[in-house]
Amino acid sequence: MNKKTIRDMSFQGKTALVRVDYNVPMEEGVITSDKRITASLPTIQYILDDGGKVILCSHLGRPKDGADPQFSLKPVAEKLSELLSENVVFADDDEVTGKKANEIVKQFKASKDRVLLLQNTRFRPEETKNAGDFAKQLAAYGDVFVNDAFGTAHRAHSSNVGVCAYLEGVLGLLMEKEVSMLSKVFDNPQRPFVAVLGGAKVSDKIGVVKNLIQKVDTILIGGAMAYTFLSAQGYNMGKSLVEEDKLDLARELMQEAKEAKIKFLLPLDIKTTKVFEDTSEFAVRKIDEVQDDEMGMDIGEETVARFAAELKNAKTVIWNGPMGVFEFEHFAQGTIQVANAIAESGAYSIVGGGDSAAAVKKLGFESRISHISTGGGATLEYLEGIELPGIAAMSEK
Ligand code: 3PG
Repeated sequence: MNKKTIRDMSFQGKTALVRVDYNVPMEEGVITSDKRITASLPTIQYILDDGGKVILCSHLGRPKDGADPQFSLKPVAEKLSELLSENVVFADDDEVTGKKANEIVKQFKASKDRVLLLQNTRFRPEETKNAGDFAKQLAAYGDVFVNDAFGTAHRAHSSNVGVCAYLEGVLGLLMEKEVSMLSKVFDNPQRPFVAVLGGAKVSDKIGVVKNLIQKVDTILIGGAMAYTFLSAQGYNMGKSLVEEDKLDLARELMQEAKEAKIKFLLPLDIKTTKVFEDTSEFAVRKIDEVQDDEMGMDIGEETVARFAAELKNAKTVIWNGPMGVFEFEHFAQGTIQVANAIAESGAYSIVGGGDSAAAVKKLGFESRISHISTGGGATLEYLEGIELPGIAAMSEK
């Protein structure tokens, strides 16, 4: 990659405005996964060790109408302080860059404190529009801009793209790592190269499937998106989640896979139930035996074995999307066994997308996967082959 990174800069005596992705999962004000906070530490530490100060900014959630206390970054500032073993000043200003924040930033710069976190950038409506003075106001806090928010790299917002009109922008270490791990897969993959795709909807993954058909040797499809493909082949999927308006598209994608001469494997059997609940009352049906009153919840054993056989020989694997409703204990087996097969394969493996990353974590397979991306939508757009605006806006070397 020919973008400048923090390694190309000196931070001695400077303040870096650092965009991170602290859009962390929370339940009643408590952070349930600090993965994204931990992932930002190397960049923060690098700047501090180089003699700089750090002013962090991030969004959290999707507040609809300006400031909303349930989306305050205050708990994140506390968590960060704990993880860094360093005081983190929290600029608690609903305007994000209002008078209150200006005063706190001024005092911070004159103090011994080295790290400050601004309030949720989405408290300002200009943020997502990348318009108005918000980017300029943010940029005024720093001498250089560092973008380390890989999870937000597919957005062109004030705090990750707009600021580059006023400050030189360079990549942080997380951003650099994410891009180098992901590009390794596409630039010169070891083969066989297998993609495992799951999740609810084909419509979310059209671009990904299209792009992967041109790159991989095998695509394994699980999750509810498989029901749309199976339905497009003429199978009765009962009450399963099928996107009726995507059946032609599904047929088109299968035709493209055929023309590219790659293996495009769909489930051979699925676990079904009659109610969408974590119930032990389920059946395992061959795909031509699904009853009208049943819905698919997971892939079956025969499918697991077929998928595992492909993964055993794989040298490169990309996985996005669970194989079933893995949040339900009775329908997590397909996802668990596919995760296990990926871990056992010894292949260079990348897991992208919030749900599959959460599945890997829940199942305790984190250390056996080569790279778990912090990106959800950003990873998907990368896999689609789309240039990410948050990276494109950074300075060239
Ligand atoms: C994510 O979690 O995917 C990123 O933080 C982006 O969030 P958004 O989809 O609300 O822009």
